[in-house]
Amino acid sequence: MCGIVGYVGDRSGLDIVVAGLRRLEYRGYDSAGVAVVSPGSLLTDKRAGKLANLEKALADSPLATSGTAIGHTRWATHGAPTDRNAHPHTDCTGRVAVIHNGIIENFAALRAELSEHGHVLVSDTDTEVVAHLLEQVMPETGDDLAEALRRVCRRLEGAFTLVAVHAAAADVVVAARRNSPLVVGLGVGENFLASDVSAFLAYTREALEVADGQVVELRRDRVTVTDFDGAPAHPRGYHIDWDAAAAEKDGYDYFMLKEIAEQPKAVADTLIGRIDAQGRLTLDEMRLSVEELRAIDKIIIVAAGTAYHAGLVAKYAIEHWTRIPCEVELASEFRYRDPVLTRDTLVIAISQSGETMDTLMAMRYAREQRSLVLAICNTNGATIPRESDAVLYTHAGPEVAVASTKAFLTQLVACYLVALYLGQVRGSTWSEEIASVIAELADMPDKVDRVLDTMAPVRELARELRECTSVLFLGRHVGYPVALEGALKLKEIAYMHAEGFASGELKHGPIALVEQGLPVFVVVPPRGRGVLHDKVVSNIQEVRARGARTIVLAEAGDESVAPYADVLIPLPPTPTLLQPLVATIPLQVFACEMASQRGFDVDQPRNLAKSVTVE
Ligand code: F6R
Repeated sequence: MCGIVGYVGDRSGLDIVVAGLRRLEYRGYDSAGVAVVSPGSLLTDKRAGKLANLEKALADSPLATSGTAIGHTRWATHGAPTDRNAHPHTDCTGRVAVIHNGIIENFAALRAELSEHGHVLVSDTDTEVVAHLLEQVMPETGDDLAEALRRVCRRLEGAFTLVAVHAAAADVVVAARRNSPLVVGLGVGENFLASDVSAFLAYTREALEVADGQVVELRRDRVTVTDFDGAPAHPRGYHIDWDAAAAEKDGYDYFMLKEIAEQPKAVADTLIGRIDAQGRLTLDEMRLSVEELRAIDKIIIVAAGTAYHAGLVAKYAIEHWTRIPCEVELASEFRYRDPVLTRDTLVIAISQSGETMDTLMAMRYAREQRSLVLAICNTNGATIPRESDAVLYTHAGPEVAVASTKAFLTQLVACYLVALYLGQVRGSTWSEEIASVIAELADMPDKVDRVLDTMAPVRELARELRECTSVLFLGRHVGYPVALEGALKLKEIAYMHAEGFASGELKHGPIALVEQGLPVFVVVPPRGRGVLHDKVVSNIQEVRARGARTIVLAEAGDESVAPYADVLIPLPPTPTLLQPLVATIPLQVFACEMASQRGFDVDQPRNLAKSVTVE
């Protein structure tokens, strides 16, 4: 939530931060702003609405050229998305500018105190207090901006990434973080900071992890990191292996379309290197000992949104292959229900970004209770994997569209791998079965590709149903989370009423929603699971008898569903547990086409942001 960029170097700082904001706009797009420091003066511009508004304003009246700049794209928390509330915020003298991601919880008290001391605060934001606090302490530090920020941070409660510049410090950008993302990019004669690496990937692949409770001072030729008390810190450096081009649209109309198309590669990449010379599954990066894995007596998966749906699928796989009881919990609910956690509980936190605050808080809670935490994450160096006992990285590459697609498929793959690995280590799954599932997984990139090749009728269907007001999605077993995911995609980008139901649950209430012509998607399990399959076929008949228009996703060649399907979407045959890898794709394509047909911004849906770093 909120994208932040900072630059010090010899290039045009403004060009660098605006380009960075373009990459980070998925994190928030209510308003955008920049500040540049040219010796002795500070210049800012900020506009409500998308980044394009700011870009136009800067083209009409350019700011002075400078090698020191910061930029922000906002997802509003305190105060409406107006020009006035957009970041950067300045102090009374207009010499300090601050941008912020997060929430400063004690801002009301600080604001009252500042007003009493004669400061005039002009916005409704929590951020503005930081600019005025810096104004207050800066003279006491001899114009040392990093020291001023440390002093201010010690007074703040809540979560924040703060970045500041000051007219008196022409070649310095300072930043601080607590429970909110910040990474540093290391260049030659120039340095960068940002909410995530995609903002500076075009210039450098070398990065520094900034930990919680640290302050960074960025200069052309050096980066200094301390804690909030000024003690030197030694952050870990790492190389980013994401391809800069991966964060480009590459000829596609939307990032979402590109990311849907990248799924075969994302699945293949997430499978690479998981098998040793003896054909056994190896998850070395997991860093959990065999003894620890054998001692686990309960698994709890915590996640949000789409990642939660991956967790729901994982439950079926984990319980089937390991016989360990597994619960799946919305991360935002987890710590408030006093969950039963012991040293033998494994908590799996699934998160594409690795920064989702709800998931982070849930995993921290689990660690406080001494449970082991395994992160499944797509972002190297993010807070959730850093704070976990173990991590399994997915290799989806950068996901830019707000609606998650390729990350979901790779989360599923990672969950299958974890389940099989536990089955292998604990001896609860036959090695032949593991080998056969691994072989099926290895075929998945091709199968996903085949599904993508047959999506023209799905897009046509979306065009036809453009005006409809409501859509239902039904599934049983692992088809149920797929139904939930199909409904979520449609809600978030096409703004339609959509619900996912366990198909057996329909007759306990929701079937009353079915009326003549209502589109109902049904995910039918493969025929191998006889009773499961037949029950879902009965459910299709129940809704069809009440006038629903049935859109049936079923294994190619499954003739038994044909009589009840108004539209039949064939899926490549897969084992039941793996079917979500192919069944989700038509639902992603349907939502994407629907949003585009209805004229909505597919990649940046209203009210949302990609990385939800507030609770
Ligand atoms: C939906 C979507 C969100 C995220 C959720 C968790 O398309 O993208 O529901 O899945 O906000 O995000 P991560 O995985 O980054 O923790």
